[in-house]
Amino acid sequence: MTRIICVCGARPNFMKIAAIVRALRSHGGFETLLVHTGQHYDENMSRTFFGELGLPQPDINMEVGSASHSVQTARIMERFEPVALDFQPDYVLVVGDVNSTIACGLVAAKLGFKLIHVEAGLRSFDRTMPEEINRVLTDSISDLLFVTEQSGIDNLKKEGVDPAKIHFVGNVMIDTLLANKSAAGKSDVLQRLGVSAGQYGVVTLHRPSNVDDMMMLGEIVSAFEEIEKEIKLVFPMHPRTRNRIGESELAGRIEAMKNLLLVEPLGYLDFLCLMSNAMLVLTDSGGIQEETTVLGVPCMTLRKNTERPVTISDGTNRLVEMTSDGIVKAYRRIRQTGPNTKAKTPKFWDGRAAERIVKIISETRDG
Ligand code: UD1
Repeated sequence: MTRIICVCGARPNFMKIAAIVRALRSHGGFETLLVHTGQHYDENMSRTFFGELGLPQPDINMEVGSASHSVQTARIMERFEPVALDFQPDYVLVVGDVNSTIACGLVAAKLGFKLIHVEAGLRSFDRTMPEEINRVLTDSISDLLFVTEQSGIDNLKKEGVDPAKIHFVGNVMIDTLLANKSAAGKSDVLQRLGVSAGQYGVVTLHRPSNVDDMMMLGEIVSAFEEIEKEIKLVFPMHPRTRNRIGESELAGRIEAMKNLLLVEPLGYLDFLCLMSNAMLVLTDSGGIQEETTVLGVPCMTLRKNTERPVTISDGTNRLVEMTSDGIVKAYRRIRQTGPNTKAKTPKFWDGRAAERIVKIISETRDG
């Protein structure tokens, strides 16, 4: 039996790790320890996903909670080291680019356990983004690097990573999307929110570069004030964003918008249903750029850059100039042109990425 620790910690990790844990279990040759760092801990940021995604309860929840990046990272490392020492894994597998990813990756590397990074090689080339630091560092200490798109291979090779360690396998987040699409179709979220298919936009915002910078947040809010005159906007608000807006002068302007529906963060199936039926999505998330590409829904990314360029070259994503005018113009362009009918699903985003990963891990172990 190959012993493997699978790490998850923050909301976008759960969809990725769900596909991997399922594939590991159905292979049969692995003894898996599922560790939740507790980076996200609210019912609607963490627990609901385990039930909905059919993820087994974590074997260990380290309950680190929120703190500054350094304190959070340090706490995860401190608590993960004894767990790893006790389990003596052949591999530690981390996903994505959150603080839990680098923290557990670093512990594994220091203890001499082989490290696997799923979603390796993505680069925004913006070192002010905390995730970019996490990506570069995790990749540099990983033994097996699984990538979702060609840019990932190119970036890793340029950084001097041994090509033998790099494998283009596709996208495990899309494995989970495809596995849950029909169940999401049964959600009654549209009725609950009082919106009609194709008639509304979905908003998500949580990046520090948008929500911690009041000038930038002001530009975004001004744009929403224009857009909501024409369509309803549904905005499931991330706790970080809620805290920032609550502390700011923008709270009153946001509450005054009649067509901006503020809701709590949604569960996976409800959110998937909401996105699938939207006219467009406005977001600063990484994963949502990928999900909208597969769903064929236009995505306006409220950022200066993306580490997921295939969602622009092949998919439905576009970067938006980050001014109030720029956002409104991009919205009008989508309304005029409609969805990008030339969009195609990127290579290997076919629901079988986790299967490929497990096959490669078992062959590497045997070989
Ligand atoms: C983290 C990830 C980000 C990812 C995002 C998805 C890092 C550096 N960032 O950002 O890449 O896109 O998750 O959501 O790892 N909070 C709660 N309840 C929770 C979790 C957070 O109230 O369950 C609040 C706390 O006030 C906390 C703040 O949100 O301080 C930020 O949480 P944190 O985990 O530090 O980063 P995110 O912004 O969620």
